[in-house]
Amino acid sequence: MTSYKDLGLSNTVDLFAKAVAGGYALPAYNFNNMEQMQAIIQACVETRSPVILQVSSGARKYANSTLLRNMAKGAVEYAKELGYPIPIVLHLDHGDSYELCVDCIENGFSSVMIDGSHLPYDENVALTRKVCDYAHSRKDYVSVEGELGVLAGVEDDVSAEHSHYTRPEEVEDFVKKTGVDSLAISIGTSHGRAKFKPEQCTRNAEGVLIPPPLRFDILGEIERRIPGFPIVLHGSSSVPMEYVRMIEQFGGRLKDSVGIPEEQLRRAARSAVCKINIDSDGRLAMTALIRKTLAEKPEEFDPRKYLGPARDELKKLYMHKNVEVLGSAGKA
Ligand code: G3H
Ligand code: 13P
Ligand code: ZN
Repeated sequence: MTSYKDLGLSNTVDLFAKAVAGGYALPAYNFNNMEQMQAIIQACVETRSPVILQVSSGARKYANSTLLRNMAKGAVEYAKELGYPIPIVLHLDHGDSYELCVDCIENGFSSVMIDGSHLPYDENVALTRKVCDYAHSRKDYVSVEGELGVLAGVEDDVSAEHSHYTRPEEVEDFVKKTGVDSLAISIGTSHGRAKFKPEQCTRNAEGVLIPPPLRFDILGEIERRIPGFPIVLHGSSSVPMEYVRMIEQFGGRLKDSVGIPEEQLRRAARSAVCKINIDSDGRLAMTALIRKTLAEKPEEFDPRKYLGPARDELKKLYMHKNVEVLGSAGKA
């Protein structure tokens, strides 16, 4: 059994309280490998931002949970070595069972998500309550994120045939009955790099898809019912067209890509939204630079020569998010 405190990690309680009060959101970046981890830590140290490192079930299968946990431990040391010890949270993304949450908690995670959003309301409450009871009774308090409402989009293990917005009339009861530390809501964000069908969007003069706006009215109603309670947005990649174009220029095919505009995320971050999940944008940045480098240097076969530029681009992307979108820069 390993407690997250032994790894030098933090839970989300104080970090979220400060973020809600300060009108910014913490970055929650997914990682699966060393280059992503390096880019996240370098960017967050340089911008003095606290950070949530997210591990999905898919990441555990791909990279091995022991390795990922020890990379998070290494990240704490790495940040110190870079000269500024930022707060780091190790979070299970989209936990789908009580057993998985327990396994992560016993192995050094400081925060878990139990995603019961696809279940009938009462079953979601019961499952989330069970995870909270376990996580909150540890000697070192582990924070729990629950979810109400179903995001659109299909992404590996995370899929939703029929999305629906969070019902504001349920949030107070859910928070009270479960004891969650934060609540993920559905107000129009969506997982993946093609967040909406073209017929749901309009197009600008260049033919670029413009998505429907986020439902700030629902967010406002939720905030009215649970004032100051930490809110989480999943599916918050902006899908930068420069990366989509670069990928397509060098042989990729990413038809109908569309994300959430940055200014809407900035607006959300000023509210009780205090954690914003970003994975797809990192995938796009890495893929764009790897494709470009290999196309321009066909003789190259040393992975460091194409993973290095991809890592540099990722770092640039994360710094931009912290400074311009989330407002988390300078808050560590
Ligand atoms: O919301 C899902 C995250 O983007 C993680 O994706 O399950 O493919 O690792 P993954
Ligand atoms: P994106 O696919 O928009 O990056 O969302 C990631 C996410 O919500 C991880 O939980
Ligand atoms: Zn998600």
